[in-house]
Amino acid sequence: MAIRLVLKMGDPLLRQVAVPVARFDSELEALISDMDDTMRALAGAGLAAPQIGVGLRVVIFELQTNPRYPDVAPVPYTVLVNPVLTPLDDAEEEGWEGCLSVPGMRGLVPRLRRLRYQGFDRHGVPIDRTVEGFHARVVQHEVDHLNGILFPQRVRDLRNFGFEDALAGQMTPMPD
Ligand code: NI
Repeated sequence: MAIRLVLKMGDPLLRQVAVPVARFDSELEALISDMDDTMRALAGAGLAAPQIGVGLRVVIFELQTNPRYPDVAPVPYTVLVNPVLTPLDDAEEEGWEGCLSVPGMRGLVPRLRRLRYQGFDRHGVPIDRTVEGFHARVVQHEVDHLNGILFPQRVRDLRNFGFEDALAGQMTPMPD
């Protein structure tokens, strides 16, 4: 339907806590359609509704096999509404993240290696998955957006945060 402007870090809308979706209706469909168009136009791996200025608990993500990221397993296209994350253990893994709201930058972020997530698809059908690796990482990154958190806030050592071109060769980039 439309490629929307992605808000950048510093915009107060990105710091707000998003509210749950109450109705699975045509308004939600239109939002998801705009999110799809925006994520694909910018070649992102995920997008949260607050990034286009809509304070609802909706995220989308997808990673197709990509020669740029040979070590990252593909993630099926998923619309996740009102997500709930449940840790399964406390094992963490560090990985280099980027974000469409923090263009050109990368940071080393610890995330839970494995987790269970629940929520609903665009029609209100329940989703319940246990995932690991990049799939677990992208869900944690997107759900952070719903709670007003951007990945630089998760970087433990700011020496591991910088511009992608300057960091080239020092990191294994993950999809945005
Ligand atoms: Ni992001």
